[in-house]
Amino acid sequence: TINCIVQIKNITRKLLLWYSENKRLLPFRKTSDPYKIWLSEVMLQQTKMKTVIPYYNRWLKHYPTLQSVAKARIDSLLKLWEGLGYYQRCRNFHKALKIVVTNYKGNIPNSYNHFIDFPGVGEYTAGAVLSIAFNKPIPAIDGNVKRVMSRILGIKNLTIYNKRRIKKTIYKFIPIDNPGNFNQALMELGALLCTPQKPNCAKCPIAKYCSAYKSSKPGSYPSSKE
Ligand code: ADE
Repeated sequence: TINCIVQIKNITRKLLLWYSENKRLLPFRKTSDPYKIWLSEVMLQQTKMKTVIPYYNRWLKHYPTLQSVAKARIDSLLKLWEGLGYYQRCRNFHKALKIVVTNYKGNIPNSYNHFIDFPGVGEYTAGAVLSIAFNKPIPAIDGNVKRVMSRILGIKNLTIYNKRRIKKTIYKFIPIDNPGNFNQALMELGALLCTPQKPNCAKCPIAKYCSAYKSSKPGSYPSSKE
């Protein structure tokens, strides 16, 4: 209905405004280079923001372009990765960039079906890189986003059915003119306000649209992980 559409537009608008005023100034938010954005998303997959930032900056000092990574020996790359853990991420990123150079003339493809085929790239990474670097309206659903969406929708259990609902709802919210900032707004809300234990609903720009906020215990959504 028409009211429904107005509400969705309001949620999207409020999230984007809140993000523009409250986002952290992270190094990978200063660039539109898909290689750098991809690197940040790979490093952030299993590692905290605070840990990643110095690794990200140091990596780019040594390897400013994807071509320089593709030419590098894996041992040199692993040395820069040392301490981040999950070293398969580094090996896969190296393999992927070699494929970009040999099969795509050094241009990271901007289509989901090509990007998802790279080693180490899953649904989350594809959505994040394609939305942030190429303005594709594709959801990027990480742990923070799952929690934020569960609270908006009043989801207690993250069943397969409810995960599908979350994705469909993001497709309704995501603005075609600003998908990267929208996805990052959801992540940022989860990192800064809509935290696991004690969500700061008083500061939340969309509390009035949130099912968990309307309940007495917003922090109890979702209650299970799977
Ligand atoms: N976690 C992973 N990618 C992120 C991003 N672009 N912004 C905030 N948190 C993130």
